[in-house]
Amino acid sequence: MPVVRLDSEVDFAGWRTAARSLRAQGVTPDDTLWTVDGEGDLFAPPLEAAAATGPAFTAPREFLALAQAVVLHRSDDRFALLYRLLWRLAQTPHLLQLTTDPDVARARDFAKAVERAAHKMKAFVRFRKVDEAPGEMETFAAWFEPAHRVTERTAPFFARRYANMRFSILTPDACAHWDGDALSFTPGADPADAPADDALEEFWRTYYASIFNPARLKVGAMTKEMPKRYWRNLPEASLIPQLIEAAESRSQAMVSAGPSEPNRRIVRAALRASRDAPYDGAAPTDLVELNAQVQACRRCSLWRDATQGVSGEGPRSARLMFVGEQPGDQEDLAGRPFVGPAGQVFDRALAEARVERAETFVTNAVRHFKHELRGKRRLHKTPDAGEVQACRWWLDNERRMVRPRVIVALGATAALAVLGRPTPIGKNRGQALQLSDQGQAVVTYHPSYLLRLPDEDAKAKAYAEFVEDLRFAQRLAA
Ligand code: URA
Repeated sequence: MPVVRLDSEVDFAGWRTAARSLRAQGVTPDDTLWTVDGEGDLFAPPLEAAAATGPAFTAPREFLALAQAVVLHRSDDRFALLYRLLWRLAQTPHLLQLTTDPDVARARDFAKAVERAAHKMKAFVRFRKVDEAPGEMETFAAWFEPAHRVTERTAPFFARRYANMRFSILTPDACAHWDGDALSFTPGADPADAPADDALEEFWRTYYASIFNPARLKVGAMTKEMPKRYWRNLPEASLIPQLIEAAESRSQAMVSAGPSEPNRRIVRAALRASRDAPYDGAAPTDLVELNAQVQACRRCSLWRDATQGVSGEGPRSARLMFVGEQPGDQEDLAGRPFVGPAGQVFDRALAEARVERAETFVTNAVRHFKHELRGKRRLHKTPDAGEVQACRWWLDNERRMVRPRVIVALGATAALAVLGRPTPIGKNRGQALQLSDQGQAVVTYHPSYLLRLPDEDAKAKAYAEFVEDLRFAQRLAA
């Protein structure tokens, strides 16, 4: 029986090469043993080099995408399952559409579990600052135990998100390292290698306690979203038992207190004071800290109905900064700016203008999604001037850290936040406006405006102007 020895538990390329070779030699799935190096029977004959005797066969793209995810599953039979599917695809090209087929269903379940594990990793990795040598870049580390082997798959997400900080994500399977320039991977780590508590943890705990609404406590839903297996690596998880315990009496107190009529004058004065005050008196020193502080932001009331605060992303060395209005429905769920429909228009226009998004810093004037509920739908509401003013603290801190040469304000809300005064887009677009911090600003349309224009000709014209403005800003920043 041929034994395939793969280089690692996630060796998709090795699996593909071996599977092609076996397929070409007509070796049936039942006759093949798949192992990761060191696990196999040392006396079994190793796999022969490909001798293409069988008919040429190319796997559909959908299968390759599925296989790339399935390989990351922890089950021992995943490589064999994939080879069986590949073998059967030659006879049944529409096999993947047969959702009740046991092999297809199993592979799809594996892929789903892997996607879920990747999603949880993106949501639950918590970085801690570690001591760096004098003069070295700030360094962060996180310890995480993913349900499946998704470290390599999710590492690029963290590199994009935290492009300008040096970090390591340590897991028992593999460790990912970002040095501000390139990603590298080393073998899995011991939990003892993870750095202990520090101030960032305190932020997460404060944030978690403040978003915890006892009246909405659903332990089942909570543990589904944050499965217990992840709790021990999350600083905020230490609060869960005490919050659950305190929840009942807090809800009771909320109910029996009844509605009270606030004195409007006092509320207005307090709001004004909190908007103008620096947050807790301490400005964040890096973008990670800023993001953690945003999660605890109470400078206005928009945090109440939002899933999370959405901070800017991109390298600290970016010359070009884009400022949108506020996260939309999808950004609120994903925690990243411009990933929904407006983000797609934005990405398309950036590509046409030959602007590399990964080299720019993309952020918003307002950090939390303002919306109203219509049935189950969350409909966007424009933030008011007070909310924009309250949120300028975060934008100003990002500007201070990134120091872009050019800031492009996308739409009127962004223009107000960037320039500090109402600036009509139609009259001001297409020109460089001087900023007080030496940089320049360009104002242009918001991508959602382009989506909303009902007239096709007007839409095409505005879109072309939008692309032109992006090109102009790019030249200005060069
Ligand atoms: N609209 C915005 O202004 N910002 C986003 O991040 C998404 C949609």
